[in-house]
Amino acid sequence: MAQTLLITGGAGFIGSALVRHLIAQTSYRVVNVDKLTYAGNLESLASVASHARYHCEPVDICDSAELMRIFAVYQPAAVLHLAGESHVDRSIDAPAEFIRTNLMGTFTLLEVARRFWSTLPKSGREAFRFVHVSTDEVFGSLGHEGHFTEATPYAPNSPYSASKAGSDHLARAWFHTYGLPVLITNCSNNYGPFQFPEKLIPLMTLNALEGRPLPVYGRGENVRDWLYVDDHAEELHEASSFIETIEKRQRLKVACSEEIAYRMGYIDAAQLGRLAEPMAKNAYGKYLLALAEMEAMP
Ligand SMILES: NC(=O)c1ccc[n+]([C@@H]2O[C@H](COP(=O)([O-])OP(=O)(O)OC[C@H]3O[C@@H](n4cnc5c(N)ncnc54)[C@H](O)[C@@H]3O)[C@@H](O)[C@H]2O)c1
Repeated sequence: MAQTLLITGGAGFIGSALVRHLIAQTSYRVVNVDKLTYAGNLESLASVASHARYHCEPVDICDSAELMRIFAVYQPAAVLHLAGESHVDRSIDAPAEFIRTNLMGTFTLLEVARRFWSTLPKSGREAFRFVHVSTDEVFGSLGHEGHFTEATPYAPNSPYSASKAGSDHLARAWFHTYGLPVLITNCSNNYGPFQFPEKLIPLMTLNALEGRPLPVYGRGENVRDWLYVDDHAEELHEASSFIETIEKRQRLKVACSEEIAYRMGYIDAAQLGRLAEPMAKNAYGKYLLALAEMEAMP
């Protein structure tokens, strides 16, 4: 039988793009766990709703008994966690639901996933993935220049980003404490079809079309980065199977400690070259040598 991916928040803007992508481009069975809040839009799933590989479970991620039932029935190979409260302005007006869903919901899901994962045979435990979808807003605001990296300190500025930052810390702790194979992604703002019109691009577009004012935060100097939602869906799918993805992209097995050490600045290009020499005949060695030589070029 086809492997199963469990998506939370699959009726939301990004989740629905991911569900549509997975049904159209892969052979996975897709289980969508979504409470269907105001942000859940079943129209965005109309094209897949009657597909044999698509299953909808209208469940709250804070409900551990229901989550346990879903894990037992569908036996997922991976979880892609997108369910959340996601609108900054709403979090300022009414933060409680953000703490409940983003923090308590993520905690509940991590715990149920961990218990399920711990019952799997070794091969199943090694292959399992929990992809926690977060936001770059956990890093605070950018000035006119620069960009966030994995090493940027957390500095959430709103109840929304604070609740997401907290959920990232939980996800990280479940990896370090229990070994649950967690991946955290911190993407920038998404845009594309089916976005709820409270978000910037659809709001501005509709207001402009209807001749209404175009509201701007502060002095309009905030810097934003934009990611097309279908590109994001593809990346999330790749994150859930990242070993196969790296093999596909680089045509080599995962053994990249030398590259990581170099890119993180622990070793310089000369040291990378020396480490690569014994592997000069295989694809990985050639790749590392090319990397070291690029740096040596004037
Ligand atoms: N939209 C963006 O630009 C953006 C950028 C970075 C990160 N993110 C993150 O990506 C994720 C998805 O974002 P989105 O824009 O698709 O959100 P969205 O608000 O469009 O959808 C969220 C979905 O989660 C569901 N949901 C809410 N509470 C739930 C609960 N307690 N149990 C089960 N389901 C629940 C809703 O019904 C909805 O379908 C969020 O976690 C968000 O923080 C979004």
